[in-house]
Amino acid sequence: MSKISEKIAILIRARYPLVYLETYEETRAISILEKVAKEQGKKIAVWSVTAGLTTLDGTPIGENTQDPVGVLKAIQENEEQMVVVLKDLHKFLPEQDVMVYRKLRDLYDSLKATSKTIFILSPIVKIPIELSKSITVLTLPLPEKDELESVLQSIMDGLEEVGKTGEEKAQKAFERIKEQLVHNGTKDLILRAGQGLTLNEFEDVVTKSLVQTREIDVSIIISEKEQIIKKSGSLEFYSLEKMSEMTDVGGLKALKLWIQKRKQAYSPKAIAYGLKAPKGFLAIGFPGTGKSLIAKAAAKYMQMPLIRLDMSEIASKWYGETTNKIKQALNLAEAISPCVFWWDEIEKMFSGTHEETMRAISTILTWMQELDKPVFIIATCNEPQGLNPALMRAGRFDEVFYIDLPNQTEREEIFRIHIQKVKRNPDDFQIPEFASITNEYSGAEIETCVQDALNNAFFEDTEITSDHIVKSIKSTVPLSKKREDDLKKLREWGKTNAVSANEDEPAEKKKKMSRKIDLS
Ligand SMILES: Nc1ncnc2c1ncn2[C@@H]1O[C@H](COP(=O)(O)OP(=O)(O)OP(=O)(O)O)[C@@H](O)[C@H]1O
Ligand SMILES: [Mg+2]
Repeated sequence: MSKISEKIAILIRARYPLVYLETYEETRAISILEKVAKEQGKKIAVWSVTAGLTTLDGTPIGENTQDPVGVLKAIQENEEQMVVVLKDLHKFLPEQDVMVYRKLRDLYDSLKATSKTIFILSPIVKIPIELSKSITVLTLPLPEKDELESVLQSIMDGLEEVGKTGEEKAQKAFERIKEQLVHNGTKDLILRAGQGLTLNEFEDVVTKSLVQTREIDVSIIISEKEQIIKKSGSLEFYSLEKMSEMTDVGGLKALKLWIQKRKQAYSPKAIAYGLKAPKGFLAIGFPGTGKSLIAKAAAKYMQMPLIRLDMSEIASKWYGETTNKIKQALNLAEAISPCVFWWDEIEKMFSGTHEETMRAISTILTWMQELDKPVFIIATCNEPQGLNPALMRAGRFDEVFYIDLPNQTEREEIFRIHIQKVKRNPDDFQIPEFASITNEYSGAEIETCVQDALNNAFFEDTEITSDHIVKSIKSTVPLSKKREDDLKKLREWGKTNAVSANEDEPAEKKKKMSRKIDLS
């Protein structure tokens, strides 16, 4: 039994009268509820505004049940042990329909004494305050692998059926795909690619791939998934091909070493030894110091898909819906796990004090606390001063890193990387000199200098030389000069509250916040 089925079974057995089940997947939710109800020897009834209250095969139960108050009355009067699913009731709740409220509150008391549980299905949670103490809220997680597998199986059964009717192409496709699925773990790859999709979405993308290529193409599923995730708002899905390599990151030795160690914690040997799955890290640093880059490289290094949640966008673009969007994102990360979950620009969410923001923050913190799936969180931020202290509390992240502007050795490495990226040999350039005149330049600024120099050389119709790069460096005013005060404050903050990501030696927990006890 899946975890969610267990939770539902407990609520029914414990006679919880009203449960709000948050989901976009009505059919799947009903089929889960049907199974659980059956196991407990209960009938299941479903209500919608159009059909009224009926059994699953459409036989009406009670009279005048299309009306929301009518259905609640019918439930109250019915004496059978039932699980009742209300599909459209949430539409009547936010409208302050006094009759619906009253009826629900009355039901709450009377149903406790009976063996009935009402499940209100809805894609978003909107419960009037008066009812909030009477309703239990559950979120239906996205489908697990075995549920996706049964969709795959039913698609295969469909193909086989068509094949049997003499449709030669379908017969051939069936034979080929059957063959494909048993080889080289392809089936597993398909199911993993489908994680994070609803059952309908998964069925659609697999069918699309079949129509387009006559086979089940994992890359089509992944690219469709990218689109679907993007549409859901402020989320971006990176498959392994879209990420960076650790070798693309110059410097940041301590942080890299730390990531290497954490990766080992995912090995079967480490798990058997008793190591817990890492929670992830928070990286603070000045703009352009490679925070985004290291997030993309860490995910690739760990061989996990990466989901980026744009905290700034979610707080502004989805204002009014922030908590719902956050919940969807957290749900998705769990479904895709093991994965790296990158929260970009967290200060845009975690510095607010508005009621809506506070609700979103508390949703995230509770989720972090209860998380038992391998989701590795990388949070990035360049203004930590106003961050909600709850986020910094011990136990939330495994480590907090401060990424400083690169030192001389690091700058040399970064120049080498970017010169190599433009397909030139770094040994042909005066790299130590570049590094010595770029004190307080960020990695991003170094990259821009190389790019500018390349452009200039091209327009001069000549090959790029060290002179071009020196010229570009000299014409660049680094952000550290323009925002000197900000950088100073950030550095001070980093020294007291975080571990250095730049040092050659492994990060030590030498500068953690200590509790100040006043004994005077
Ligand atoms: N340490 C580095 N090594 C190599 N390249 C770097 C490094 N730091 C930055 N860069 C280059 O600069 C680009 C921009 O850096 P990145 O987006 O990672 O900075 P950031 O710290 O996330 O900045 P912001 O705070 O503005 O989001 C990278 O894609 C990379 O090309
Ligand atoms: Mg960034």
